[in-house]
Amino acid sequence: MSETILIIGSEGQVGTDLQYRLREIYGKNNVISSDIRPADPAKLDRGPYEQLDVLDHSRIAELFSKHKPTVIYHLAAMLSATAEQHPKKGWELNMDGTFSIFDACLEHGVKRIFWPSSIAVFGPTTPRVNTPQHCVMDPGTIYGISKLAGERYCEYYFKRYGLDVRSVRYPGLIGWKALPGGGTTDYAVDIFHQALKTKAYTSFLKADAMLPMMYMDDAIKATINITEAPAEQVKLRSSYNIAGCSFDPQTIASAIAKRIDGFTIDYAPDHRQKIAESWPQSIDDTVAREDWGWNPDFDLDKMVDEMLMRLSATASQ
Ligand code: SER
Repeated sequence: MSETILIIGSEGQVGTDLQYRLREIYGKNNVISSDIRPADPAKLDRGPYEQLDVLDHSRIAELFSKHKPTVIYHLAAMLSATAEQHPKKGWELNMDGTFSIFDACLEHGVKRIFWPSSIAVFGPTTPRVNTPQHCVMDPGTIYGISKLAGERYCEYYFKRYGLDVRSVRYPGLIGWKALPGGGTTDYAVDIFHQALKTKAYTSFLKADAMLPMMYMDDAIKATINITEAPAEQVKLRSSYNIAGCSFDPQTIASAIAKRIDGFTIDYAPDHRQKIAESWPQSIDDTVAREDWGWNPDFDLDKMVDEMLMRLSATASQ
């Protein structure tokens, strides 16, 4: 079926991979990328690009009228560590941005919208191992609070206005195409870059800071699969738990050391350690598996192989 897809926040960590995959499926001109960053002259041939600040209502209206999108992926957000430095700005971007985009979707008759939540919706009294779909949620970061409020907002808009919104709770995401920006789980990407450059890494989380993680290809698969699933399979209209693989810095370091001779890690935990300690260690994603067939492809070893292979190939180009 022909779709016109608008990705909001296309130049971030998820958007970079998502736009690439969606263009493979739908064709380059049926996917419009948009982000607050100005157009990159080096990427002009990838397909349509629009500069968009999600807090600019008139620009949103202009782009929705111009492109008439049928499906939206709304990814623009400020992540956990950055939002702790700028709580008011984080709240404004994550909440007001979402309100504006949801309203524009209703006004312009958008068929489906994807909005990502995060493991940051959980907090210190949430069960940390195999965190269930439904449990205590008491996030302590402004990012987590905005994501939990966003989940409630998704369900509200679905029930009250029929907006067909779909969502998953991303774990820490690991990919090679783009760097993450300002998250607590960013170490798991940085470590690969430093391993290849200097054979050494200083982790800002402790050796045993176990967190739920996922390879980017799995995250993109979950994102597209839930957005394209028949509406009746998407029974939860807040957000689904999804799991890839859980590990801590010492475990990923030894997986890298097996492949890069002489690689070493040391530890200098900073403010992000506290955030990590308030999040789950592993996630129970049974409900997503049952409802819309979620199933990850990458475990730790497969991900480490793929990251090192892809990043080495990019470096030697
Ligand atoms: N990766 C995100 C962060 O660390 C979690 O959703 O903020």
